[in-house]
Amino acid sequence: PIRSVVRGCGAYLPSEVMTNEDLAKTVDTTDEWIVQRTGIRARHIASPGEMTSDLALAASREALADAGMEASEIDLIVLATSTPDNTFPATATTVQAGLGITTGFAFDLQAVCSGFVYALAVADKFLVSGQQKRALVIGAETFSRILDWTDRTTCVLFGDGAGAVVLEAQKGTDRGVLTSHLRSDGRHKGKLFVDGGPSSTGTVGHLRMEGREVFRHAVGMITDVIRDAFEATGETAETIDWFVPHQANRRIIDASASKLGIAPEKVVVTVDRHGNTSAASIPLALAVARQDGRIKKGDLVLLEAMGGGFTWGSALIRW
Ligand code: ACO
Repeated sequence: PIRSVVRGCGAYLPSEVMTNEDLAKTVDTTDEWIVQRTGIRARHIASPGEMTSDLALAASREALADAGMEASEIDLIVLATSTPDNTFPATATTVQAGLGITTGFAFDLQAVCSGFVYALAVADKFLVSGQQKRALVIGAETFSRILDWTDRTTCVLFGDGAGAVVLEAQKGTDRGVLTSHLRSDGRHKGKLFVDGGPSSTGTVGHLRMEGREVFRHAVGMITDVIRDAFEATGETAETIDWFVPHQANRRIIDASASKLGIAPEKVVVTVDRHGNTSAASIPLALAVARQDGRIKKGDLVLLEAMGGGFTWGSALIRW
């Protein structure tokens, strides 16, 4: 059988860092409140004119360099984003052109914070089917552009960034994507949404969220879909080496890990420095843990995400 093996990963964060103290100058909040409720201390913000495709391109170039691959070897790009450069064309095709790729195909995928897990699962299906050979799977967001900067209940939570992973179809290996599990339930669509769009208001709109409602559902959904991944593979909280969750909120991460019995030292946390970068948070965290030497070849890595829709999902990767 064919497996989708991770060959490299990369990340990009805009240079501007916005701290909680910076935010406290413009909205009625404090560093203490934000840290206590979310674990977030700072986030990166894209500069004017810096678009999602720019972030995605920088992360993709780093991922290709890490893989030791030429862009021309890529024949599939799946870019997860809820903040595309334009309504169309897909930001993925801008990245494709920016990398000088003229073969294969590229498309965007929208599952909000679960976007990277969805994109990884979709790319994996194209590779294991034998249809495509090498995929760039990207999560890239400029959530700063859809935040209501006067709403303290949401604007303190998010940040901008991008991460990318190169997957390659390989035969006769026990490495790669072992399993992925996707879920959604549109009955919850009103709990976390953007109040604009091309077909509804003709405007871009702003992010709106019932934070408590999201929190209430998050841990159960996350742990359910991780149990699916464990059941499908026979792996457990003990056998995984690293847990790389979507970075929404420190309390959700800790509660999920604790409920599953995952040891705290196996949990990769970047939300303190990155905030919630939606679809970018998992590949950004993967790049951090790969670059600081935590994730090593052969390690078993558990991914999980939950976001607007609701959408949620999990994946297990033998790195
Ligand atoms: N600074 C200071 N006070 C604030 C702030 C702020 N930034 N935001 C809200 N408050 C106030 C509220 O107005 C409220 O005041 P009141 O009691 O006088 O009405 C008080 O703090 C408590 O508000 P709650 O919303 O009940 O606070 P809660 O403890 O639920 O924390 C939070 C809010 C952090 C949003 C929490 O609900 C949460 O983490 N929810 C999950 C949402 C999430 O992570 N979403 C990310 C997107 S989804 C995803 O990626 C999974």
